[in-house]
Amino acid sequence: MNRIRGQFRRQKGWQHFGLALCGWFLCAIVAGFPIAVESAEPILIRFSHVVSESSPKGVGAKRFKELVEQRLAGKVRVEVYPGASRYDDDRAILALLLGELEMAAPSLSKFRPVSKSLQIFDIPFLFQDLAHLKRFQESASGKQVLKSMEARGIRGLAYWDNGPRVIATARPARVPIDLKGAVFRIEPSDVTAAQYRLIDVVPLAMPFSRARDAAITGLVNGQENAWSNIASKRLQDYLPHLIELDHTFLSYMLVTRTSFWNDLPADVRRELENIVAEVTAEVNRLALEKNAAARAAVAASGKAQIIEPSSEQKSAWQAAFAPVREEFADMIGRSLIEEAGKSATPSSN
Ligand code: LMR
Repeated sequence: MNRIRGQFRRQKGWQHFGLALCGWFLCAIVAGFPIAVESAEPILIRFSHVVSESSPKGVGAKRFKELVEQRLAGKVRVEVYPGASRYDDDRAILALLLGELEMAAPSLSKFRPVSKSLQIFDIPFLFQDLAHLKRFQESASGKQVLKSMEARGIRGLAYWDNGPRVIATARPARVPIDLKGAVFRIEPSDVTAAQYRLIDVVPLAMPFSRARDAAITGLVNGQENAWSNIASKRLQDYLPHLIELDHTFLSYMLVTRTSFWNDLPADVRRELENIVAEVTAEVNRLALEKNAAARAAVAASGKAQIIEPSSEQKSAWQAAFAPVREEFADMIGRSLIEEAGKSATPSSN
């Protein structure tokens, strides 16, 4: 009997719910509310980064917003969160996966939790110069790396450049032994940590937003970064000896959430892809100019000593860092490292 009563109550419940729904639709029609299933709201792209708005990446993000809102007006809207104002890079990757962000462009060193192959870019002295790095990034293998996080829900859209990493220290250093015992702020890269341990430097991974405070307080007495980032944080005020080692290059991957990208209307996605290609070319051209200007500004500040190592000194750094390649070869993939080697000259690519 109780069972029948329970069933009756459930049926009544559904009837009430159905009536309420019909009533709501009727009211909506009478009141003239549109009962559109599709939203007329533009699609929102939230783009977070950690650097200044005048850096190559900062300008790229602003340009992306400008072009999207010109060409996809009313369809797509972009909000840019610069200078780690909402997320540091490690949080940005999580926020992207959680659907709190749609775009970010973290340094290639910051993808450690989601891609092993991307750590190739942190191997010291693997790429001889920026041209070598670009040839590899544009090669079939480089494009493969761009796709390496698809299964984890992240789509790589493009590589964005910054510039060669410069070592900034509180004490003058020409060869590795000069840094023995120093404490360095590094990006969260196992490869970079291993590189510094090899020369008895203590690596401390911390976000870029802490880089200046870490130098001011003396928590660290060394860092490495591209000229544009050193100048924007005025690191030379505290770490005035700047070694141009060109051991690695600060480069980014512009990323989105795979599911977000796949769900976009096809025409919108096509236009966004065109805009990404256009902005990428602009950022990569700007990166050269901005880093040259930042280097000149640091040199003109009167506070810095720029050290260009002699070829013997450079050989000493290369020898000291050499074991890193072997240590990470299996994890990154030996064939990928070989491919990177093949991009050293234009003809061999
Ligand atoms: C850093 O953490 O030093 C850089 O990756 C910051 C950036 O985005 O250039």
